[in-house]
Amino acid sequence: MGLLDKFKRKKIEGIDDSTYLTLREERRISRENTKTIKEYERIRNRKNVSEEEYLTQMRDPANVVEFDNLHTYFFTDVGTVKAVNGVSFDIPQGKIVGVVGESGCGKSVTSLSLMQLVQAPTGQITQGSIRYQDEDGKCYDVTKMPRDKMLRIRGKDIAMIFQEPMTSLNPVFKVGEQMDEVILLHEEDSTDDSARERSIEMLNLVGIADVKKVYNSYPHELSGGMRQRVMIAMALLCNPRLIIADEPTTALDVTIQAQILELLRDVKEKINGSIMFITHDLGVIAEMADYVVVMYAGRIIEQGTVREIFHEPKHPYTIGLMRSKPGGHVEGDRLYSIRGQVPNPINMPNHCYFYNRCDKAMDICKRHYPAMTQFNSDHRAACFLYSDEILPEEKEDKEDGEGR
Ligand SMILES: Nc1ncnc2c1ncn2[C@@H]1O[C@H](COP(=O)(O)OP(=O)(O)OP(=O)(O)O)[C@@H](O)[C@H]1O
Ligand code: SF4
Ligand SMILES: [Mg+2]
Repeated sequence: MGLLDKFKRKKIEGIDDSTYLTLREERRISRENTKTIKEYERIRNRKNVSEEEYLTQMRDPANVVEFDNLHTYFFTDVGTVKAVNGVSFDIPQGKIVGVVGESGCGKSVTSLSLMQLVQAPTGQITQGSIRYQDEDGKCYDVTKMPRDKMLRIRGKDIAMIFQEPMTSLNPVFKVGEQMDEVILLHEEDSTDDSARERSIEMLNLVGIADVKKVYNSYPHELSGGMRQRVMIAMALLCNPRLIIADEPTTALDVTIQAQILELLRDVKEKINGSIMFITHDLGVIAEMADYVVVMYAGRIIEQGTVREIFHEPKHPYTIGLMRSKPGGHVEGDRLYSIRGQVPNPINMPNHCYFYNRCDKAMDICKRHYPAMTQFNSDHRAACFLYSDEILPEEKEDKEDGEGR
């Protein structure tokens, strides 16, 4: 054994060292990233972008948002994280679309891409479009919109409710001041008095009893449920067309959770808006959503109406999710859990991402990524169990056979 071989790292059983990088490799990646990021930032920071560049047409005018082949990557020093990797789905006007999937599958990054809030400069939308239709029927591609134009939409037409209100509310300003500021920023004719009136009206709408007291309180003086109500009131201030709720009830206890869900449904009806509802909780999705999008490792693996996803799930991952919810399992008393882990987001395989966890895996699943199979106009899943696509090698076999 040579001297160099002695110092080579030995493979440790059970440890995935496929992502091990030498310092030189890290430097090379960092140099390449700097170049790539600079180019994306140059395009983003251009001044005087003409409206034609980001005006577009909706595929279906009944939708308020259409994600179309969205790719959002993070260019980190250890490699490119493909957080959202070709996501397409619609949010119809007046409907609730639930987005589910396990931690790290790209739910939040998808919604942040729509708000132009992906952490730059490492995070960049590299491909695809997000079409948004305003109330006048004008349609914008958010991925191409300049930042100053986006400021007019963000918080006004599209509002966001975050998981943890304490980190979203500013601790050094009173609730009322923070709410008034939103109105003064977005509504041109607003005055201090009209802003205050609107804030109080919204606090009333979300069922806060002592509105004047809450208006004059600092966030830390309120309970968790109250703060989440304030966040919802804040999101509603400018009559948004779309509310993005990213795990809005995860930090709350069960009784408050039910109240907040009821409240969200109520206000959605009142403003005739749409909701993109992100959650881990399938029970919440069953109660709230009209349509469901199931994400796995940055891609959509199944989507359909809430009834289809809950009663006729097709993808083995969705079937596993349904069995792992309390009450959804069949094997004895133990709760079902999907074995294994999501693949490393930096080194995604070039076959089905669920292959190493799937009970139904076939030979073909480790050679290709499955295309979407359409079951009806709403329901589709990416799995070879339902696919009748002709794959390259099958085509070759067929052609060879024909030539014989
Ligand atoms: N700023 C960042 N830099 C690098 N990677 C990031 C960054 N933000 C998110 N990611 C990666 O992007 C992927 C998707 O993250 P995302 O936050 O969208 O997951 P999620 O589905 O919302 O998970 P959770 O349910 O835990 O909130 C993850 O692999 C995450 O590590
Ligand atoms: S494509 Fe194959 S491995 Fe992937 S979910 Fe379907 S059956 Fe399982
Ligand atoms: Mg998240």
